[in-house]
Amino acid sequence: MQILLTKTPVTQLEADAVVIGQFTGSSPTGVAAQIDNASAGALTRLMEAGEITGKQGELVPMLAMGGVRTRQVLIVGLGEESQFDAGRALRACSTAARHLASKSRPRIAFCFDDTWTLEHQQAGICGIQMGCQGQDLYRAEKQRHPFSEVLWRGGDESARSAGEILGEAVNLTRRLVNEPAEVIYPESFAEEVELVARRCELECDIWDAARLESESCGAILAVARGSVRPPRLVFIRYQGAASDQPTLGLVGKGVTFDSGGLSLKPSDGMMAMKCDMAGAATVLGAVQAIAQLKLPVNVVGVMGLVENMVSGSSYKLGDVLTARNGRTIEVHNTDAEGRLVLADALSVTVDQGADKIIDLATLTGACMVALGTDVAGLMSNNDSWCAQVIEAATRCGERVWQLPMFPEFDQQIKSEVADIKNVGEGRWGGAITAAKLLEQFVGDTPWTHIDIAGPAFLDKPKPWLDGGASGCLVRTLVEVARTWQ
Ligand code: BES
Ligand code: MN
Ligand code: ZN
Repeated sequence: MQILLTKTPVTQLEADAVVIGQFTGSSPTGVAAQIDNASAGALTRLMEAGEITGKQGELVPMLAMGGVRTRQVLIVGLGEESQFDAGRALRACSTAARHLASKSRPRIAFCFDDTWTLEHQQAGICGIQMGCQGQDLYRAEKQRHPFSEVLWRGGDESARSAGEILGEAVNLTRRLVNEPAEVIYPESFAEEVELVARRCELECDIWDAARLESESCGAILAVARGSVRPPRLVFIRYQGAASDQPTLGLVGKGVTFDSGGLSLKPSDGMMAMKCDMAGAATVLGAVQAIAQLKLPVNVVGVMGLVENMVSGSSYKLGDVLTARNGRTIEVHNTDAEGRLVLADALSVTVDQGADKIIDLATLTGACMVALGTDVAGLMSNNDSWCAQVIEAATRCGERVWQLPMFPEFDQQIKSEVADIKNVGEGRWGGAITAAKLLEQFVGDTPWTHIDIAGPAFLDKPKPWLDGGASGCLVRTLVEVARTWQ
């Protein structure tokens, strides 16, 4: 998709459609006023009749309008002007793009008022790309037809290219998550990382099973043991600052399929478990964008890749694992595998000199019980680091909510035979007891854990996004990298 800036008046554009925006309760202004004038007040009349309200996400297609060159003008509701932000800009654009991409329409123009800031424009351009990609990987008859050309009114080159970079990163994450587990498994995921590393000229390191053995990553290896697919721990490094500057560590859970292991999931619960590597895919998308944006930071992305399967060699209930940092973990449930993978991945990240860490994981159903499917849970050992993540998410229009990490929760993961066990007592507070296990593997390093089990994978479409992988928090990670110091 080529994104071009244009200064052509909205009525004169040569395109299959032009998208314009409308806030609630105002008469046509700016771009909409130009169309209104050219069409002898058509928009004003439709607003007076209540056909166009400007409600967030409302789509009003107007075909073959007099005075306008494009075949179609699509009016997208922007909601209350006072509430407008980057998240709403993104969703307005992706809603419109998703609608228009339902048929082959190669050239689409987006014309918004000069009141859109560079942040709004960047988010909007990202949204256009998100709206054009869905779950078509294996469909002969595509439901989305990505535009070949997008014309974007006004704007500046930096907003255009940043929006394009973010959209590509989010869509990379979404594609990897949407691929079935027979296509994306630890080795093939590692190859995807190598591709990104080559494209962006980044350093990439891949630890195979033998290396994991020599590095004492007993927790990752235990989870991997039931699968014919060997595990990988993959590092991708971006040096955008001097080497004496601090390093941001981004760590992702990459369980390429979670059957539950011997604590086997029922079919319903297993159905979407190709999405269990969304944390790792989010890290990869974010590092790609950070590198392409040439942000002046040092970042290491760490992805713990395993398949959690059932076989004669599966790890078992009652096993006691020795993690990389020497802590022993008693296995009470082989379906609580993500925290085991992250335990080693986090230790390694600390050892590699990360100064602050964020991890992302589709870690617990309990987090979905607590916060629903649209909100990611945050848990941290450092409130000011957590607050920075929250502020970045807020600026991006992504929903996160912090859960408490009171020391009382530590009691719940005490084991009779090992240092800790891999589940809490009963179901309550399950998102937090999982985070409490992770906390034992980051030492004193400021660390924020993001449980994306809810928002990472949509079981049905939203008006602005097809079902399946959402790419949530890629943009937030990039925003953290832009502002963390
Ligand atoms: N990958 C799952 C969590 C999950 C559930 C992600 C639904 C996305 C959607 C995780 O490995 C898991 O199975 N967690 C268990 C933990 C339990 C056994 C303590 C859970 O949440 O049930
Ligand atoms: Mn599991
Ligand atoms: Zn899992």
